[in-house]
Amino acid sequence: MRKIKSGVLICSILILAAVLSVTGELPIIKTKNVIENFNFITEEYPLPPPISIDMVLEESICRRMSVRYFTGEAVTDEELSTILWAAYGVTEDGNRSIFNPDGTYSTIIYVIRSDATYKYVPEDHSLLLFKSGNYLHLGQYTSPIKFGLVWDMDVESDEMRGMADIGMICQNIYFDANALDLGTVTTGGNVQDLYELGIPSNEKPEIIMPLGHPSSPYDFNYDPRPGSNLPAIINNTYNLKDSINNRLIRDKWDNIPLSAVEQSQLIWSSYGYSYLFDNINNKWHRTLPSAIGIYPFKIYAADQDGVYEYIPGTHSISTITQGDRREEINNSIGSTDIWIASATWIIIPFYNTDVSPQYLTWWYYENGAIVHNVLLEAAALNLSANVIYDISDEAGLRSALGISSQTNLLPLSVVPVGNPFTIPNTPPGIPNISGPINGKAGTPYDYTFMSIDPDGDNVSYYIRWGDGNLTPWSDFQPSGTPYFDNHIWIEEGNYIIKAKAKDIYCVESDWGRLSISMPKNKMLQNSLFLRLFERFIHTFPLLK
Ligand SMILES: Cc1cc2nc3c(=O)[nH]c(=O)nc-3n(C[C@H](O)[C@H](O)[C@H](O)COP(=O)(O)O)c2cc1C
Repeated sequence: MRKIKSGVLICSILILAAVLSVTGELPIIKTKNVIENFNFITEEYPLPPPISIDMVLEESICRRMSVRYFTGEAVTDEELSTILWAAYGVTEDGNRSIFNPDGTYSTIIYVIRSDATYKYVPEDHSLLLFKSGNYLHLGQYTSPIKFGLVWDMDVESDEMRGMADIGMICQNIYFDANALDLGTVTTGGNVQDLYELGIPSNEKPEIIMPLGHPSSPYDFNYDPRPGSNLPAIINNTYNLKDSINNRLIRDKWDNIPLSAVEQSQLIWSSYGYSYLFDNINNKWHRTLPSAIGIYPFKIYAADQDGVYEYIPGTHSISTITQGDRREEINNSIGSTDIWIASATWIIIPFYNTDVSPQYLTWWYYENGAIVHNVLLEAAALNLSANVIYDISDEAGLRSALGISSQTNLLPLSVVPVGNPFTIPNTPPGIPNISGPINGKAGTPYDYTFMSIDPDGDNVSYYIRWGDGNLTPWSDFQPSGTPYFDNHIWIEEGNYIIKAKAKDIYCVESDWGRLSISMPKNKMLQNSLFLRLFERFIHTFPLLK
């Protein structure tokens, strides 16, 4: 066996040498921007800066509708850049454009264009070549660009959570596409087509979204649905980008009741109807898409006075239970650092299990879309919010709301909203990072992170290892005690480890940094050769 392997290796060296002698260069594709690692055949294309869109969030939500037919006109790189940043980019303060409470961002966006398919790299806001050739025939509909959204189960094992992220990402794609007079549609059918790209086995195709210029231009007029018992939806001043950058995630709220306008805006964003009438399809669209054309969620809300059911058709609420049930809601969630009882408007989407469980992952998507809309609208109202997906006592939660008999209703998330808690609070100190600054690639190294919070609050750490890997927010640790973590750098190079700390009120420190160097070792030289070999074995199938 060993003989065969070394024979194959010698063969490949000879073939590479032959290619070199004929062409004078390695048979690699033109490289725009070589990433600093051993995989020197990688091509990374930086995207231009996103365009600033002059449309307030509420109008973007109201223009959201699905478009399935497109003209042949191309989408510009600037438009693509804008949409990808909103979909999954990195915000001004190092967060992501969508919110995942555990930082387990498990979505990969494949950008399918006529020349090739790329992966979106949020950290660099760039496109990484994945596969040359035109794969635009994958999925439904004909368009100049398609987004293939897959769930990476190595990053997040729970598909419900992975789909919630995808629901959030797709909302932002819809909002910015429609605001740019482009069009898109979430498609959950034919997604297995993405396997044709040769995606790895830990990735599951979930959604494909075509993107292009609508073949019929948008035609809306302002016409809110009649019969509401809540204040009419108003436009605030933030656009989508502002709302993403101003998202305020908190664990605790000031017990100041929200105004009727604020409550109305928030519950509308979760599942309401647009205030615009679509003259092309003769209908009002909802604030999110829904699979198979039905909307199987019921939205409940609670404040200090009672529990309410939302009636999207008339943008109204009806009282289900009188009195303050927030403490009971809090107790039904189980152990969490989030003090839900202090939130002054708690929105709870329930999925109706009488609807076919065949489409469960799609309802998980819609749950994420609902949560995302509320987080965005909360930001637009300068309110803070959070999300809890793990509900320990579902029956207890139904009982807290006064809907015990409706066992067909399954709560998928709880979204507390309110005015941020305002006690004097200073951010934790910049984490001190200590550990080896030199080492060998391929070897694990231990590092210590320590931040002191001036208020003595417990702190949590978030670490970027400099090679694209990260450790999501840790459990809270006592201030000033060391937090240990370790990492292996696969590729040789110089890296900067970055860590920030947050206290229990989610107030974050600045980044702490440590520069390290991982020179190459013999093992890696072999691995460089093996990678080269792996690549060219496809070029010379006889070697397989
Ligand atoms: C999870 C999910 C899967 C969907 N799958 C498809 C699909 O395969 N094909 C399609 O044409 N539309 C699909 N849709 C779009 C819905 O049909 C559309 O959202 C619904 O009819 C409401 O129309 P609107 O989005 O224009 O308001 C899907 C939507 C969701 C949320």
